[in-house]
Amino acid sequence: MEPLLFLLFGASGDLAKKKLLPALYDLAQHQDARFGVIGIGRSDWDDDAFREHAIEALANAGIAKKKATAWAEETLFFAEVDAYDQLEPVFERAAALEDEHGYPGHRIAYLATPPSTFSGVITAVGEHEEAEEHEGWTRLVLEKPFGHDLESAQALNALIHRYFDETQVFRIDHYLGKETVQNLLVFRFGNALFEPLWNREHVERVDILVAESVGVEGRAGYYDQQGGAIRDMVQNHLTQLFTLAAMEPPATFDAEAIRHEKIKVLRSTAPVNLQRVRLGQYGPGDNGNEGYTAHEGVPPDSDTETYAAVELCVNNWRWQGVPFTLRTGKRLPERMTEITVQFRCPPVTLFRSAGPCSLSPNVLRIRLQPHEGFELGFEVKAPDNGFTVSTQHLSFSYDEVFGKLPDAYETLLRDVAEGDQTLFVHADEAEAAWALYGPLLDAQLPLDPYASGSWGPGASTPVAADSTPVA
Ligand code: BG6
Repeated sequence: MEPLLFLLFGASGDLAKKKLLPALYDLAQHQDARFGVIGIGRSDWDDDAFREHAIEALANAGIAKKKATAWAEETLFFAEVDAYDQLEPVFERAAALEDEHGYPGHRIAYLATPPSTFSGVITAVGEHEEAEEHEGWTRLVLEKPFGHDLESAQALNALIHRYFDETQVFRIDHYLGKETVQNLLVFRFGNALFEPLWNREHVERVDILVAESVGVEGRAGYYDQQGGAIRDMVQNHLTQLFTLAAMEPPATFDAEAIRHEKIKVLRSTAPVNLQRVRLGQYGPGDNGNEGYTAHEGVPPDSDTETYAAVELCVNNWRWQGVPFTLRTGKRLPERMTEITVQFRCPPVTLFRSAGPCSLSPNVLRIRLQPHEGFELGFEVKAPDNGFTVSTQHLSFSYDEVFGKLPDAYETLLRDVAEGDQTLFVHADEAEAAWALYGPLLDAQLPLDPYASGSWGPGASTPVAADSTPVA
């Protein structure tokens, strides 16, 4: 990793506090890492105030105060701006630090600010790049949401490309930084066992579930304005899981080849059938939790969905006829992200099963969080006189074998520093994902209430069979 400067826009915000500052600290522990961070914000802060803030954030992440303080004093600086399109103080500070510390002029502009500030920052950084030759490269990192529909995503891409080449742009979807999400590629393409079965001949259905037990307390106003679960979760995180599960093997393991295959999946996906969508909003629960519209900042008649189940069909040779269900909700009973692949039953049943019905299909569950791992259900003979069959599981747990996994943001920050775009969203991919959900966002679909702490409208358990959207 080459020495560089991070220009961290939104340094006093929630994301910086919870994720980015701890990830930057972890990144700095790598032997080859040498970088400075200029926090940028409208807060009336100086270097010391930013450092204090960071030390507190690191303490919350379990990092000892002495180590955090030493790192903060050496690495963190602050530039206050009046507005996010007036960045002169930032560029002056950057040039001074580069001189003083001998950094070669590589800069990463990280936009962890609300989307309304994106165009101002992009324009100001882009114009500075054009006007003033500084040594080294500049890369742009954009947090989600990347637009709020196809039109706004296209406009944002057009603005970015006015100043930056696509190779300089890193659109974040933090799910791609999760170790187990990346492992999907190894699982599929590093094992000869599953890939021959990964198609319509052998797979009955695929279910992708991102269940959250939290509601939107603390960020309800923002969530309501952003427009709910389709925009907040489905268009990005769940769609990333979907494309990784459905894509063809890439020609090589590089960013261009992988992103190309993911874009192909999106372009082969049939327009969403609105009859196969279910939206919901959480109400109060038995556990004493208030309902969505009781949160501060949410209008009492809000029709924002906090739950969405959408069925997608991929019209290609591999997947024709296999439903992919994407399901997510807030205030569900537990936090759980998993991809469930249900294989077809044997064509002929020779045995009795232990339960009341016939054989259970083989089900592969890829658990992405928490307790990352795999579980494969298969049929075995229960020991008795006849041929009674029962379902048992082969399982693998990441924690047990590898211990603590690195945080997604640490992985992603390192990749940006090294210029590896594999785990970032390409301009065309962002647009194709918005194009897919556009008609759904425009439609006025019914919104079903569900109780906080339940599995959502019409679903009594998290498992595949119950997750079918409205028929
Ligand atoms: C964010 C969404 O992108 O992802 C949040 O805006 C959501 O609403 C979060 O809670 C979930 O991320 P994770 O890593 O906790 O699954």
